[in-house]
Amino acid sequence: MAKPKVLATHRLFEPARRILQKHCEVEYWEKPERPPREEVLRRVKDKEGLVCLLTEKVNDDLLEAAPKLRIAANVAVGFDNIDVAACTKRGVVATNTPGVLDDTTADFAWTLLMAVARRLVEGDALARSGNWKGWDLDQLVGTDVWGKTLGIVGFGRIGRAMARRASGFQMKVIYTDAVRASAEVEKELRAEYRDMNALLAEADFISVHTPLLPETRGLFNAANFEKMKRTAFLINTSRGPVVDEAALVAALEKRKISGAALDVFEKEPIVHPGLRRPNVVLAPHIASASLETRTKMACMAAENVITLFEGRQPANILNPEARKG
Ligand code: GLV
Repeated sequence: MAKPKVLATHRLFEPARRILQKHCEVEYWEKPERPPREEVLRRVKDKEGLVCLLTEKVNDDLLEAAPKLRIAANVAVGFDNIDVAACTKRGVVATNTPGVLDDTTADFAWTLLMAVARRLVEGDALARSGNWKGWDLDQLVGTDVWGKTLGIVGFGRIGRAMARRASGFQMKVIYTDAVRASAEVEKELRAEYRDMNALLAEADFISVHTPLLPETRGLFNAANFEKMKRTAFLINTSRGPVVDEAALVAALEKRKISGAALDVFEKEPIVHPGLRRPNVVLAPHIASASLETRTKMACMAAENVITLFEGRQPANILNPEARKG
């Protein structure tokens, strides 16, 4: 029997390729740069499966071009690039990769937090410039992290992993979320619930871990920057459009807040020029980018595809109602 055809818009990692090759005939996009949209639309035409990155929009256009498609497997936990309702309407299963990247992403949010508080990027530039004149008492003085208040916006798996790491820094942890965590979780993580306004007013570091939803788009706007402490920092490893970048730039210019550290941007890969300032640390959307974790994510997406082709429900299905069987 012919194996089902799959398009992978990335060469993936070897362990994921091995999973796919047993059960599918896979066409890989092998080039290092992202494929042009028209290439994806052309290549997906005869495919039953798609393994894609968050840079690929799985929308009506793509679904229209792929009449045989049965599954779109995103290699990411966030799936705002997928029109799940459009997939469901056409009986296409959509999957994501939750759970495997929580600790790696939280590690990186901490990396950003520490870097911006302690001015690591400025220090690195000075140390390698050849212009460093030696130790000085007030050189690149930053802000203490330990003992401060960490405010977590979005208390899902990644937000909680962020909270877990705060105890080593003797921090107070406060969080906000549409759904309050159980008393057990709050106790285990020593995290106190606040509403958004209270969190904005109290936190020294605000770390964002919400998915991009209509209700979180532009959540960090001018009004909310106004409510933050002037000494506070914003850390974002979730999705760029959760922050109104023009409002953030204005808040930084007017010194409404002390700084920001960003892994994600409103219009990736474009970085707002107003964000290129010393008190902003910038990273190119790499919070989950450890070799171990990215390999796990690719394998998870591959497993989702082959599970569906074996007639079972993929573990990470986003729309069980779309399953044709
Ligand atoms: C990365 O941003 C992801 O959603 O996995």
